Amino acid sequence: MNDEVDLAVDVRHITKRYGHKTVVDGLSMQLRRGEVFGFLGPNGSGKTTSIRMMCGLLTPDSGEGHTLGYDIMHEAAKIKREVGYMTQRFGLYEDLSIRENLDFIASVYEMDRRRERVDHALERLGLQGRQKQLAGGLSGGWKQRMALAACMLHEPKLLLLDEPTAGVDPKARRDFWEEIHKLAAEGITVLVSTHYMDEAERCHRLGYIAYGRLMASGTPKELVANSGFHTWSISGEDISDLADSLTDLHGIDMVTRFGNTLHVSGEDLAALDAATAPYRDNPQQHWTLGTPQLEDLFIHLMGKAQDNYGLEAKK
Ligand SMILES: Nc1ncnc2c1ncn2[C@@H]1O[C@H](COP(=O)(O)OP(=O)(O)OP(=O)(O)O)[C@@H](O)[C@H]1O
Ligand SMILES: [Mg+2]
Repeated sequence: MNDEVDLAVDVRHITKRYGHKTVVDGLSMQLRRGEVFGFLGPNGSGKTTSIRMMCGLLTPDSGEGHTLGYDIMHEAAKIKREVGYMTQRFGLYEDLSIRENLDFIASVYEMDRRRERVDHALERLGLQGRQKQLAGGLSGGWKQRMALAACMLHEPKLLLLDEPTAGVDPKARRDFWEEIHKLAAEGITVLVSTHYMDEAERCHRLGYIAYGRLMASGTPKELVANSGFHTWSISGEDISDLADSLTDLHGIDMVTRFGNTLHVSGEDLAALDAATAPYRDNPQQHWTLGTPQLEDLFIHLMGKAQDNYGLEAKK
């Protein structure tokens, strides 16, 4: 088996410009078959644009790549037929039932075995019991599930889900993720873009993009372990005052509040140590040194990308 067979997506140095703006900048990314890959990055960082290039809806200005073994530059039509793409704002017909929506999509795309496909999609996503309900009356979670069922009608081997759970409540998001993992267990490769850190933790591997560039990729554990970033976690009294005192000190790259806990992070452990030392003996506070949370890391990466971008923009 060669690499191409093992990789559902393999894009190298893909770039997309709109006018003078480089929106995706030399992005290389590989998705292994059957994995759930989380695609993270701030608003406007180029996630949707990258996804659209991977699924054959947009041709890169330069670079190369394959999706499901097809060339993204020349075989877009074949890719589109085999990929399930759920757009960020998925449209559905509010005055049609779940079944009618799915059946309508199957007929628009002139799919064969329509009834069988709709039945299978309904069953796969646990929608049989609700198939007669009007889409307009469904909660956000069920709407997303129906959208996923619609993407599954043509039985794709690769799913590209662009923020599928935005605005959906935690229980429904959890259920949705159960479905994603079930599909992955069947051998379907899933790329999910998300802004939720709990979802990032559920992925096999992650890619973090900022200003169109991939800043880091790996398993959640690898990302944290290889970050070279150290975080003190502090709980107790006067956390807000402490945050004010520590912000902007040399050696401290980031101060973030997580509810009643404060995270104070830096890349240079010695400098971080020196900066925090005068504050650490407060008996009203509990200090522990550990690894950063994914969120700490991503905010840090975003800052770094901004610095690089700023420098280049000035050139
Ligand atoms: N068709 C277009 N024409 C011009 N600019 C575009 C076009 N599509 C996207 N952009 C710009 O490209 C940048 C990246 O957009 P993209 O939608 O890929 O980001 P994103 O990471 O998906 O953001 P979000 O998290 O908000 O969904 C943005 O600055 C956006 O305004
Ligand atoms: Mg987007």
